[in-house]
Amino acid sequence: MIIAIDGPAGAGKSTVARRVAAELGVDYLDTGAMYRAVTFGVLAREIDPADARAVIEVCGQLELDVGVDRVVVDGVDATSAIRGPEVTSGVSSVAANPEVRSILVELQRAWVRNRGAGVVEGRDITTVVLPDADLKLFVTASPRVRAERRVAESGGDVDAVEASIAERDRRDETREASPLSISAEAIVIDTSEMSIDDVVADVLWRVQG
Ligand code: CDP
Repeated sequence: MIIAIDGPAGAGKSTVARRVAAELGVDYLDTGAMYRAVTFGVLAREIDPADARAVIEVCGQLELDVGVDRVVVDGVDATSAIRGPEVTSGVSSVAANPEVRSILVELQRAWVRNRGAGVVEGRDITTVVLPDADLKLFVTASPRVRAERRVAESGGDVDAVEASIAERDRRDETREASPLSISAEAIVIDTSEMSIDDVVADVLWRVQG
């Protein structure tokens, strides 16, 4: 079974994907961590994430190891740094780069081919990466709730976090290459008033009946 989950920042996709994968005994792929890992590598080489040509060159040279609990870029443990403010503010530019996307999309499809099953989560999984997945979900929540979840997770001021999430959503939705959009075939789950347990139960019910 291949489950594809898309949705905006802070909707709870990662937590849901991780838990559903564990319940089903399959692997989980966080594709956002891959875009973040490339961004980390770009910044480590002091390259501007908006310099498309230089970013493509770096992307082809990076050694990426994006695991569930550990992300290593060129031999350096980047697990916490990929969630930090520098990477978060540079990642939208890197993700808007079509060549970077085609390299990462190939890696993502190969990940699925090698396993034959799994839960894959991101922004373009149901639309571009795995449009034939067995279950396609769009997990979302109101901007306020998403900001509150991020603050509960990693601190900060809720208004500032909401503004930064809204800006990243806008960039993800309006970019030319594989923008964040809701596939006509995806089931939309609005988690604004649901707990993570509710969402996990809902997804498992859809899988197992
Ligand atoms: O966890 P959070 O919602 O903050 O974002 P993420 O899933 O870690 O993704 C970070 C960024 O990577 C997103 O804002 C997108 O710009 C980009 N991304 C993408 O373009 N396509 C994907 N399949 C996954 C992430």
